[in-house]
Amino acid sequence: MIPVITLDGPGGSGKGTIARLLADRLGWHLLDSGALYRLTALAARRAGIDPEDEARVTELARTLPVAFEVGEDGTPRILLDGREVGSELRTEQCGADASRVAAMPAVREALLERQRAFRQPPGLVADGRDMGTVVFPDAPLKIFLTASLEERARRRYNQLKEQGVSANIHSLLQELADRDERDANRKVAPLRPAADAIVLDSTELGIDEVLQRILDLARERELA
Ligand code: DC
Repeated sequence: MIPVITLDGPGGSGKGTIARLLADRLGWHLLDSGALYRLTALAARRAGIDPEDEARVTELARTLPVAFEVGEDGTPRILLDGREVGSELRTEQCGADASRVAAMPAVREALLERQRAFRQPPGLVADGRDMGTVVFPDAPLKIFLTASLEERARRRYNQLKEQGVSANIHSLLQELADRDERDANRKVAPLRPAADAIVLDSTELGIDEVLQRILDLARERELA
């Protein structure tokens, strides 16, 4: 069985960064499942499709012409229709649209097999909201990463500032709170820890400490 480490949690908890570093350290593949929901939302917007039109958005999700590549400098590149979409994908608008399309059961179903196909030797680190509960329920190590809302908003704010994007900490906090609410209360695959997940609160922890704890757990379970 190909091992999977699932990393679920709310937006801004540091999952994305930790997942990438973890996959690098282990030499495993990486699934950024949020990117698939963001890509679906972006493709809908570009095609002029109403993000609430479940049938048409589902069709898009099923046929999404997307490629995940690694650039010459080692950074991941995401292509939609052959064109790089990295920065557009990370906007708050795209995140909010993604959270809407992600609430539709048929869209989630359409993306399920695509996500499972990332499980390739020697292993996979899967980052998302329902990796441990729905997509990889048999994963041998499940982490649920949280942090306080204020800390997550502060991290998002700093991240955007570093990218030269202007942001307002109060509206970021509100957007994160709205998205948490939508992700946690939707009917299908709501954001919650799997029964066998280990919950890590990173409010007071640095990236290196979180990474080290997960690597220790992986070693304890003889995955690494
Ligand atoms: O992790 P992210 O911010 O890129 O995710 C964008 C949105 O996609 C988020 O609001 C919830 C949704 N999502 C989901 O429902 N299930 C996943 N496995 C990953 C993301």
